[in-house]
Amino acid sequence: MAPVPSHSAVVDELERTAEAVLPQSVADFVRGGAGDELTLGWEREAFGEYALRPLVLGGVDRPDLSTTMLGSRVSLPVAVAPMAYQRLVHPAGERATTEAAGRAGALTVVPMLSSVCLEEVIGAATGPLWFQLYPLRDREVVADLARRAERAGYQALVLTADAPRLGTRRRDLRNGFALPPGVEPVNLPRRVGTVAEVDGAGESAIALHAEATHDATFGWEDLARLCDRTALPVVVKGVLCAEDARRAADMGAQGVIVSSHGGRQLDRAVPSLHALPEVVEAVGDRCEVYLDGGVRHGTDVLIAAALGARAVFTGRPLLWALAVGGADAAVDLLARLRGELEEAMVLTGRAGLTDLDGLLRRRRKDWAC
Ligand SMILES: Cc1cc2nc3c(=O)[nH]c(=O)nc-3n(C[C@H](O)[C@H](O)[C@H](O)COP(=O)(O)O)c2cc1C
Repeated sequence: MAPVPSHSAVVDELERTAEAVLPQSVADFVRGGAGDELTLGWEREAFGEYALRPLVLGGVDRPDLSTTMLGSRVSLPVAVAPMAYQRLVHPAGERATTEAAGRAGALTVVPMLSSVCLEEVIGAATGPLWFQLYPLRDREVVADLARRAERAGYQALVLTADAPRLGTRRRDLRNGFALPPGVEPVNLPRRVGTVAEVDGAGESAIALHAEATHDATFGWEDLARLCDRTALPVVVKGVLCAEDARRAADMGAQGVIVSSHGGRQLDRAVPSLHALPEVVEAVGDRCEVYLDGGVRHGTDVLIAAALGARAVFTGRPLLWALAVGGADAAVDLLARLRGELEEAMVLTGRAGLTDLDGLLRRRRKDWAC
């Protein structure tokens, strides 16, 4: 196993180290995006559009980084995004990320397509846990997973709404991406959980599975039904505009995650950071608003918070950490984000995450229209 990078290692270094230890097809699966990967790049670039406007002599020594996420208090406003098949990068998979998040004071979203079963993951949790669902053709499976998550003690459901079908991920097709033995969607019953064999380049196991199971006709009424039938709050993930955010709130969702799925679905989709202000304006206090996509530094967290995100999620960096050094490296990564966020708040003179008025300046205005 490669050495764990020091606490100060930048995420780029973590990515390089992880890519050296992972099989190339897995490294590509993690880092890749849809189409020409334009949105993937824009997600990072969007943060570079903002500059910080610091206040001095405000006496901020120990800023308060805590927030609540649907009533659960977290000491860090950075949560773990749902990511399928984490045993691809480490044998402890979702158990390790969940353990790490708990140790770091963060919330975790466990994916429907986890490679460790949802009841077992909760055994590793010391922090709040939400469970993610995809809209499947077999509605009974979705309803059953929602019931299982509720019984097991998850605190919310996250419906991923931006994947009526899978975006074309050329890296996976080129690599003939297949799941290795021992990595399976273990939460799913056999009838929807069998991942087809891949016949070499030109096919991807993930794409074939999604094609066989996802349901593009799943609509707002289905969301309303899900909200009605579960005692858990429902969060809609993958919202990128005001009208969808309003609709989600109308149908009973209590939160939305502004997300382009990390550039893995619709290429040329607006990057989430630029969609965030209109969503915040549209739903105000009717819904909690979160963001994911491209979050790599403490200053990214601060920028998203200043634009109205209650907390952010991070994805790929956690998988790179897991690949390099398991749960300990994931704790280090989250601790580094905590340290960077704290430093940024002290240096901008901000005592808490609700005290961010006037913090941002746009470097250019070219995304506004
Ligand atoms: C390897 C991988 C697997 C993912 N699997 C899922 C998934 O099963 N469900 C889901 O809603 N989002 C999934 N996502 C998207 C993430 O939840 C999140 O939106 C995205 O990774 C955020 O961008 P970031 O990686 O730049 O932080 C996945 C992302 C990656 C990188």
